Amino acid sequence: MNKLADIGLIGLAVMGENLVLNMESKGFSVAVYNRSTDKVDKFIQGRGAGKNIKGTHSVKELVAALEKPRKVMMLVKAGDPVDSFIDQIIPHLEKGDIIIDGGNSNFTDTIRRTEYVESKGFQFIGTGVSGGEIGALRGPSMMPGGSKEAWPHVKEIFQSVSAKVDGGVPCCDWVGADGAGHYVKMIHNGIEYGDMQIITEAYQFMKDVLKMDYDEMHETFKKWNTGELDSYLIEITADILAYKDEDGAPMVEKILDTAGQKGTGKWTGIEAMHLGVPLTLIAESVFSRFLSAQLDLRDQASQVFQAPEITFEGDKEEMLENLKMAVYGAKLISYAQGYNLLMEASKEYNWDLKYGDIALMWRGGCIIRSAFLGDIKKAFDKNPSLPHLLLDDFFKEKVQKAQPGWRKVCAVAVTNGIPVPSLSASLAYFDGFRSKRLPANLLQAQRDYFGAHTYERTDRPRGEFFHTNWTGEGADTVSTAYNS
Ligand code: 6PG
Repeated sequence: MNKLADIGLIGLAVMGENLVLNMESKGFSVAVYNRSTDKVDKFIQGRGAGKNIKGTHSVKELVAALEKPRKVMMLVKAGDPVDSFIDQIIPHLEKGDIIIDGGNSNFTDTIRRTEYVESKGFQFIGTGVSGGEIGALRGPSMMPGGSKEAWPHVKEIFQSVSAKVDGGVPCCDWVGADGAGHYVKMIHNGIEYGDMQIITEAYQFMKDVLKMDYDEMHETFKKWNTGELDSYLIEITADILAYKDEDGAPMVEKILDTAGQKGTGKWTGIEAMHLGVPLTLIAESVFSRFLSAQLDLRDQASQVFQAPEITFEGDKEEMLENLKMAVYGAKLISYAQGYNLLMEASKEYNWDLKYGDIALMWRGGCIIRSAFLGDIKKAFDKNPSLPHLLLDDFFKEKVQKAQPGWRKVCAVAVTNGIPVPSLSASLAYFDGFRSKRLPANLLQAQRDYFGAHTYERTDRPRGEFFHTNWTGEGADTVSTAYNS
């Protein structure tokens, strides 16, 4: 490869290697660099052999191998390595060159890095890349944000390598300024945590309440994947449940029940707290991973507390249908909550997010890809300023339809001592969401009673604050009526 390369890539781990091969297969020449340079040589002699890929042994050599404006993409571990590489790349750049971070970086870092790189006269893109190993190779979902002027220079490469839906629409478009791309990827991951948690609760319900064996569970998920729950995560769950270990036992049974996490779900929960958005399902799914990780404590508690005896004697097929509705209902809530957070973030960070386009970016390639995202896209196409997904006619009807079965599943689970945190928290959210009046009146009275925090009245205009001397002993001084 003698001519200059279209793009440079740093980081030849699983995602990096596969993305390079994907780019090359779409006709782009790529220069690659990795901190341990033996990996570069191995790649060039192995999977990269005979391809339009140039191996380099230093950041300087990598940058010198690129066509201008230079595009240097990093697929390295989020955190300090990203900052370190930015500082190594910058001395070799010229005005207008572009640095791209394709890792799972925290959006606040991406906001800071965009400002920093721009202050040096260059451009920065922070892009979400979803789809794991296979996605990176065959077509991931990509969510770029950052320096807007950089987008036309990478658009062709990104949209060529990304997944396509509906006969060729790329699952990649410009998301917005500074950290917008990584924010949308963070929400994607939060939703991924939620979907996975919902599925695991359904699995436990099938196994422990309905006493289904692995083959039955496999068949059920396979069937679910042909209807409204059609999605990548349901599809792989069906595969996983059918997988047997060497001794013929279900592989899943041999796996320790302690969930890992790299942090993006937790960031989503923290961000929901920060912006005051009730993101209960995703938060529960993060907490459930924490609880699963407390193996020793759970072991001790299991010896102290007796589990209720499981007494389900109803119609199994009927309950399975209810379970499907519970999964669907919870999923509706999860996405509605995720979009609620996106809407608040769009205002807070001035991003002007395009909600339908985001659904389209998630329709293919990524871990949460599903038929369902097509319905979300339609809802926002119909009404781009829809205030909440559940207020769209389609979602309204679906959530109504899911209710009866969903309630029955939660009731049976609670009676039988089966934890269903995401199925039940989402139902509780729905019941709160559809309530014109909540018991927060009493809460306000309590705040006013002990701290003179004041309250507003139902029979007076909003914005007027009152205090009652509940005990007859308090003074007239009230606390400031500000809300965090
Ligand atoms: C994706 C995934 C990916 C994520 C892993 C692991 O979109 O391809 O979201 O980015 O890092 O799924 O996440 P946890 O280790 O936090 O479960």
